[in-house]
Amino acid sequence: MSDEDGYFGESVAARYDESSAGMFTPDAVDPAVDLLARLAGGGRALEFGVGTGRIALPLAGRGVPVHGIDMSRAMTARLSAKPGGDTVGVTIGDFATTRAPGSFAVAYLVFNTINNLTTQDAQVDCFRNAAGHLEPGGCFVVEVGVPELRLLPPGQTAVPFGIGPAEWAFDTYDTATQAMSSHYVTVRDGRAEHSSIPFRYVWPAELDLMARIAGMRLRDRWEGWSGEPFTHESRRHVSVWEKPAD
Ligand SMILES: C[S@@+](CC[C@H](N)C(=O)[O-])C[C@H]1O[C@@H](n2cnc3c(N)ncnc32)[C@H](O)[C@@H]1O
Repeated sequence: MSDEDGYFGESVAARYDESSAGMFTPDAVDPAVDLLARLAGGGRALEFGVGTGRIALPLAGRGVPVHGIDMSRAMTARLSAKPGGDTVGVTIGDFATTRAPGSFAVAYLVFNTINNLTTQDAQVDCFRNAAGHLEPGGCFVVEVGVPELRLLPPGQTAVPFGIGPAEWAFDTYDTATQAMSSHYVTVRDGRAEHSSIPFRYVWPAELDLMARIAGMRLRDRWEGWSGEPFTHESRRHVSVWEKPAD
């Protein structure tokens, strides 16, 4: 890990928006903001792993009061420096355990960021932490990929996802522990550099159990933010769990 900012330190933060440009387009952002604004329903929203504000800023722009938790000062400094950044409160810490002030109508965790918690215990803690922030009747929303184990033939542990003339990217899987890592090998001036980031992949049904442990129930599961049906072919899901109303 690079520094106390975790895997999203200064060098990653400096190029995050550019390297994730496809996720900043209106097509990617607007449906998420629409749904989250609807779920907030006039109340407050809490983003776990708020980053540079890709979702938090447009959501705040709709008039929803938004607060974020993130361990990376480098990422959140970019958020705060953007227009409207001063309207989004930030608490620095681990979103599995850190408490933000107040209670919220909706908490959300997007862009596969639940996978950044590399143990099952930490993922369970994250659900408990979300539930602890929610008002009765509030919702926790997670956007995450369905584990791509169907791409792994027996005996194989790596799946390439980006092959170029000077860049190779691949995921490695340990199906015994659900640990996975994304690896990036870049060749510059004849020298190869390797970087990697660890994740824990997690199944939709496993998330439902985590939600139950935290006292929440599945309310909706879609393939995407616009309510597309979730099927056996879906490669990701947007799931909404509800904390019971008192
Ligand atoms: C892939 S980025 C997503 C940022 C933003 N949500 C977005 O959609 O663009 C993941 C963010 O989560 C933060 N993060 C990862 N693990 C974390 C943890 N355990 N606690 C707090 N922040 C974490 C990183 O610092 C980073 O800002």
